[in-house]
Amino acid sequence: MINYRIIALVLSGCLSLTACGSGGGHQVDKAKLQDKQEDNKNQQEEITEFTPVTVTSLKEGVDFPIGVAVPAGNYGSSIMLSEDRQNLAIKHFSQLSAENIMKMDALHPAQDSFNFTDADNLVNFASNNGLSMHGHVLVWHSQTASWMRSFSGDKQAWIEMMENHVTTIATHFAGRLKSWDVVNEAFLDDGNYRSTGESGSIWYQNIGAEFIERAFIAARSADPDAELYYNDYNLSSSAAKLDAVVNMAADFKSRNIPIDGVGFQMHISDNYPSISTIKSQFQKVVDLGIKVKITELDIRMNSAETADELTPKIAEKQKKRYYDVVSAYLTTVPASQRGGITVWGISDIDSWIIGLYDSPDWPLLFNAQFEAKPALQGMADALAEFK
Ligand code: XIL
Repeated sequence: MINYRIIALVLSGCLSLTACGSGGGHQVDKAKLQDKQEDNKNQQEEITEFTPVTVTSLKEGVDFPIGVAVPAGNYGSSIMLSEDRQNLAIKHFSQLSAENIMKMDALHPAQDSFNFTDADNLVNFASNNGLSMHGHVLVWHSQTASWMRSFSGDKQAWIEMMENHVTTIATHFAGRLKSWDVVNEAFLDDGNYRSTGESGSIWYQNIGAEFIERAFIAARSADPDAELYYNDYNLSSSAAKLDAVVNMAADFKSRNIPIDGVGFQMHISDNYPSISTIKSQFQKVVDLGIKVKITELDIRMNSAETADELTPKIAEKQKKRYYDVVSAYLTTVPASQRGGITVWGISDIDSWIIGLYDSPDWPLLFNAQFEAKPALQGMADALAEFK
């Protein structure tokens, strides 16, 4: 099938090796010329049709988790109530994350009561269908329960309150989850701890930075088999932030505080960060010898807010971007250190990105009709090529 219609193809620059004055003898020059011609061609081609998607199962043949975040419980778009979402989750993915129902407010709504019903249903759904679960999240400054925010007590009381939360939840799910995001978003982009202010952390404010290691220690002793991750956003772009996380993880290792990996959320856009930055950021965690997990991948395609629908051209750009990001992961992170790749939602209609920026966008692998987008092919192609 012809997918591209060439409206105009005007090559600028060198048209032949001799015209370039290279003498034609150098392979490097020849390769460069071909790249340039290819670039020019791509710029000039008008893409008018969506390229076909032939992926039967994204996870097939991949030996690390290919995950997806799902709404569950009573959410309108809950996977428990949606056959479309169930079918795609089972067909293409090997792991689930709960998009919201395993957060602090959902699991621990009052100081003396825990609500495990929705999460147990989701964990059962996963295991009944041969999927593993990544737990999200034990300690975070956001989506805390209101009783936590108004909790009063000295540092020791706060430590006990937080440890009780972690211990009770990690014990409840012990043996049933492959991994946990133990602490989420404790650092700011400049590498300082998230402390006071609007985006402050009640955990840092009341316990200090030691809340992080205490949470990891409590999680490990409650569920010794779960992989434990520190998770954050902008780790693939901000050197200062990732360096702070790497320093913390190195310090944990030197003091035998358990930590198995770093979760890169990767809510990124079509043009930022660059693939070379993403690779060098992954490399820092690889060098530390712990796992790298992409925990919340989505790729915003309309950050300039110039589009009002997903055109074939945007879809093609997104396909390449998914291919490049997944290739960067596979070529940088050795097999033994791959915690997996999770996308933050199944269908574009469920993506949190739309509400966050209040503009149309299509960040995920399936469209509003639950049809596979070219992005799915891009991810599958990279998995097949580099796994
Ligand atoms: C988001 C969910 O997708 C939304 O439904 C919710 O309203 C807010 O949280 N980083 C995280 C995730 O670790 O828990 C967030 O999920 C997205 C950013």
